[in-house]
This record gives sequence, C-alpha cells and structure tokens, in this order.
Amino acid sequence: MQSFNSLVIDYKDNEHNISFRTKIFRELKHKEVLVKIKYSSLNYKDALSVSGKSKIIRGEEMVPGLDFSGTVIDSKSKKFNKGEKVLATGSGLGETIDGGFSEFIYVPDNILLHVPKKLSLLSSMQIGTAGFTAAISIEKMLLNKQSIGSGPIVVTGASGGVGSISINILSNIGFETIAITRNKNYIPYLKKIGATSVIIPKILEKKSLNNKLFAGSIDNVGGELLDWLIKSTKDNGNIVSVGMASSYNLNTTVFPLIMRGINILGVSSTNYPNNKRRFIWEKLSNKYKPSQLSLINKNCINLKEVINYSKKMVSGKVAGRTIIKIY
Ligand SMILES: NC(=O)c1ccc[n+]([C@@H]2O[C@H](COP(=O)([O-])OP(=O)(O)OC[C@H]3O[C@@H](n4cnc5c(N)ncnc54)[C@H](OP(=O)(O)O)[C@@H]3O)[C@@H](O)[C@H]2O)c1
Repeated sequence: MQSFNSLVIDYKDNEHNISFRTKIFRELKHKEVLVKIKYSSLNYKDALSVSGKSKIIRGEEMVPGLDFSGTVIDSKSKKFNKGEKVLATGSGLGETIDGGFSEFIYVPDNILLHVPKKLSLLSSMQIGTAGFTAAISIEKMLLNKQSIGSGPIVVTGASGGVGSISINILSNIGFETIAITRNKNYIPYLKKIGATSVIIPKILEKKSLNNKLFAGSIDNVGGELLDWLIKSTKDNGNIVSVGMASSYNLNTTVFPLIMRGINILGVSSTNYPNNKRRFIWEKLSNKYKPSQLSLINKNCINLKEVINYSKKMVSGKVAGRTIIKIY
C-alpha cells in the first residue's frame, strides 16, 4: 500500500474547499508516530470547520478532525511501539496540525496517549473530545471546592456531546444534575443518562440578581443563558464556561461575583497541558467513566458521510454524539 485517503480543507484564494485527497506514505520524522485510525468523532467545531461556517484551520490546507483512536503502524518515538492502541484529542489536531478525518495520521509523540486499559478504541472515541472536555470541567469545579452537599449542578446544551457526558459523569459521582435543553423531546433521554430534572428555558429574568437556584453549572451555550446562570447561582458556586453554541457574547453584571462570590471558570480542551492529559484519561476510565456511552453516541457514520453530516450538525439537526468509523 503506497497511499491513503484523507479529507482535506483548503482556503486557496480565501475560499473554503473540501475534498478527499490521496496522500503518499513518507519517512517518519524524529519522535513521530504513524497511526492507522480506527475511529474519530464529529464535534461541533469539526462541523463548523468541514462546512466552512468558521475557519478553524490555521493555514491554507489541513486535514480536519479534533480526535482519533487507532493502532501504531510505525514509530520513531521511544514512548510508542508498533501494534499499541493509542488516542489523541485536541492539542491542535485539525487546527494547527493534520487531524483525524483520515485513514492514517503522522503525529508527534507528545500529544499521543496509550488507550487506558479499561477503555477500547471505540469507547475512547465515544468519549472523545466531548468527554475529555466534560472531565476537565468537572475536575476544575471540584478543585475549586464544589461539593455534592451544596446542591444541584445545571448543564446547558444538555443533548449535545459535552452536555450529555457531563450529565452522565456528574450523576455517576453523586451530584444532583439538572439538564437545560431547548427541546422537550429530549426529556426522556436526558433522564436516562442521569438528569434528575430537565428545564426548558422560556423567558429569562433580566434582573441583576435572581433567586439562588443552582450550586454550579457547566455551560455550553453562552450569551443570555450564561448571564442568567451567573445570576441564579448560590453563594461561592462555580460556573464552567465551555461553549458558545448560542453566542460568544456575555453581557452581565459583576453583582453575582462580588455579592455572592460566584466563580466563572474557563476550560480549553485544545490547550490543556499535554503532561496532564494522561491523568484525565485515567479518570475517564475509572471514577469518571461514563456509563451510558451507547445511548449518548446515537450516530455512527463513515468518512464519506462527514461532509453532509457536518451541514446537518451546524443547522441543529443532529442530537447526541457522532462516531466516525474509518474502517
Ligand atoms: N472549551 C472547550 O475546550 C470546548 C471543547 C469542546 C466543545 N466546546 C464547545 O462547547 C459547545 C458544545 O460542544 P458539543 O460538542 O457538545 O456540541 P453539540 O454536540 O453540537 O451540542 C451543543 C448543544 O447546544 C445546544 N444548542 C445548539 N445551538 C444552540 C443555540 N443556538 N442556542 C441554545 N442552545 C443551543 C443544543 O442542545 P439542546 O438542543 O439540548 O439545547 C446542542 O445539542 C460548542 O460551542 C463547542 O464549540 C468547547
């Protein structure tokens, strides 16, 4: 076999183009590993990139795909040997270096991890970037002294990847978890994965401080909903700002911060330190292991379906996580 197929985005003449290209195998560089990809997943950011809604790739040409799992085919790294099962999420994949929407990938060893013993190539991608982001969000809340006894945690964008896995992990580790979704059809699903109750927000109060409803939150939506959460959180609660599915703007007041001691915490799965990733993945295979991965991963597609599926995802027509099976 001399060549392999990859999905490639290019911005030649500043216009978004996407197509399948044939790539020729080459010599490995120092500390580089060649991986045969088995699974990847379609995240919201991937869908933006593939559909051309946002320019996610830095540079003129790139293979998209924030994550992948697969088997080492060849290695010039002392850390990885032929035949080992590996994974990678974030770390610039599909943004600054070629990503996982490909049959094979050349990857620097500093972003690669062995698949933890209690996970498989499939389950590690069912967790993927979304689950990694959920785990670092929960970790940050706990480090900031969020306790089960202080009350319920609310999760927005609940039916999405980060939202669903956050609900499942929080509920498994003992938190009362409230889901916020726009769609009442998702209520049974959200209860099955661990939500104790579900809220469908209608008119949001626009006061400086609201009644104290939640002890903390994981927010995937941003904008007016995030403003409402900040003003509806109990004293010293933690709000993790993960996403901006609705808006990247935040028009709020400092009252909740200075009168209730509310903490707004940020997370970045892309820029999470490489030397701490193993620790989080070990937790995702033990204490944080999601128990409802097959319910959460509703869709499994092949590489050829990625372009159409991305268009569906950016227009809000895909629920739950989507796995890409490469072979
Ligand atoms: N900080 C990080 O490192 C990081 C990592 C991964 C993802 N993200 C970001 O986090 C967000 C969630 O990612 P994801 O992969 O879970 O995406 P996803 O699977 O597409 O889920 C997003 C969810 O947000 C809700 N939503 C979508 N459009 C909305 C709108 N216009 N207004 C209100 N709610 C809306 C929907 O849930 P309901 O239908 O249930 O309301 C949707 O399922 C995205 O913005 C993504 O870019 C950030």
